[in-house]
Amino acid sequence: MRVLMLAPAFPSEMPFFAHGLVSVGAEVVGVGDQPVAALPPMTRKALADYIEVPSLFDDEAVVSGVRRFAESAPIDRVETLWEPLIVLAARLRQSLRLPGLTLEQAVPFRDKERMKQVLEGAGLRVPRHSRESTARGCLEAAERIGFPLIVKPIAGAGSADTYRIADRSELEGILPLIRHVPIVSVEEYVEGEEYTFDTICADGRILYYNVSWYRPKPLIARTVEWISPQTVTLRNPDTDALAAGRELGRAVIEALDYRDGFTHMEWFLTPTGEAVFGEIGARPPGARSVEIMNYACDIDTFSGWAEAVVHGGLSQPVQRRYNSAIIFKRAQGRGRIRSISGLESLMSRFDRHVVSVELLPPGAPRRNWKSTLLSDGWIIVRHPDLPTLLHIADCFGTDLQLYAE
Ligand SMILES: Nc1ncnc2c1ncn2[C@@H]1O[C@H](COP(=O)(O)OP(=O)(O)OP(=O)(O)O)[C@@H](O)[C@H]1O
Ligand SMILES: [Mg+2]
Repeated sequence: MRVLMLAPAFPSEMPFFAHGLVSVGAEVVGVGDQPVAALPPMTRKALADYIEVPSLFDDEAVVSGVRRFAESAPIDRVETLWEPLIVLAARLRQSLRLPGLTLEQAVPFRDKERMKQVLEGAGLRVPRHSRESTARGCLEAAERIGFPLIVKPIAGAGSADTYRIADRSELEGILPLIRHVPIVSVEEYVEGEEYTFDTICADGRILYYNVSWYRPKPLIARTVEWISPQTVTLRNPDTDALAAGRELGRAVIEALDYRDGFTHMEWFLTPTGEAVFGEIGARPPGARSVEIMNYACDIDTFSGWAEAVVHGGLSQPVQRRYNSAIIFKRAQGRGRIRSISGLESLMSRFDRHVVSVELLPPGAPRRNWKSTLLSDGWIIVRHPDLPTLLHIADCFGTDLQLYAE
């Protein structure tokens, strides 16, 4: 089977997915905007061929470039795991008459208002919401929905331009800051803890699922710099407390008629135990979540995904052995990393439970923590017992410090 993979090098997990496709016997043709020589070695090794396009955001040019290529080397599947290209992939499938997510099915995954309308239509609990394109519309929607509320772009990512708003005067203060966002969602603010429901599906069946817990919820993690945000993959996603979220997750996949590949849903568990939908992507979770999912079960969901889309099954057994957590670190100070403190003593205490340390080395420039959750590096830890795992993760949160100047 020849699989066309859009953006086989970015985000940074993509080389593993490209490799996964090869490992299940597919021939992979990459489409990207970098020259071949600039691709990571793992991607280069995985690709049988590569179509270089001037821009991945010029849909028409990509479609005609791929069509030309396909005349001499027919394509069997089009895949992408990068959020901004979900609709382009659907366009390519339509143009090449291939199976997989259609344009009609793809739109509700990208347009957060359409997404909520479809799910509401299926009787599922989504935050009260409204699509607005003017300041006046936002103010009127706020009156209907009530405060506190959330304002966010309908095609947002990374919590950019997402605001929690307590009252009308705060809303009036925010409106000038989001003037550059053409269409926003105005939403009821949902209290509670925030979880994911991630799946690998084939032919609409869920072959693997995962629940991760964000500590704290992303909106806080992405606005307070001193926090070391954690994503925790739960060893036991089948507890009663999470039942409403699992049911919601299954119902969402059915309502959106999702069939093959990875999904990443975010949901809220309110203080009364209700599960409320947040958002869903037709792609895996980002920020190294796939890795912690792999570490939790000693599986390889990169090739698991590939097997699902190429062969319609998942042959790896899923044994949930560990809770695993990734802890993202942000240095104190600006500029370049100068020193790292606390790592040695943490390693002497928790060595056996640490599976990965990827901190920026001294001398490296800090990453922009607002634009990437990866920030200045991360640690991955795992443990069979959840309270112990949380304790270890919190120790890395508080006792490990990076300094920059
Ligand atoms: N209705 C809501 N009630 C409470 N919190 C919300 C609501 N909508 C969004 N948030 C908060 O804002 C964060 C970002 O919102 P959302 O996930 O919709 O946008 P995003 O930009 O796609 O984020 P990301 O790419 O980080 O997943 C959520 O993870 C959640 O913490
Ligand atoms: Mg989100």
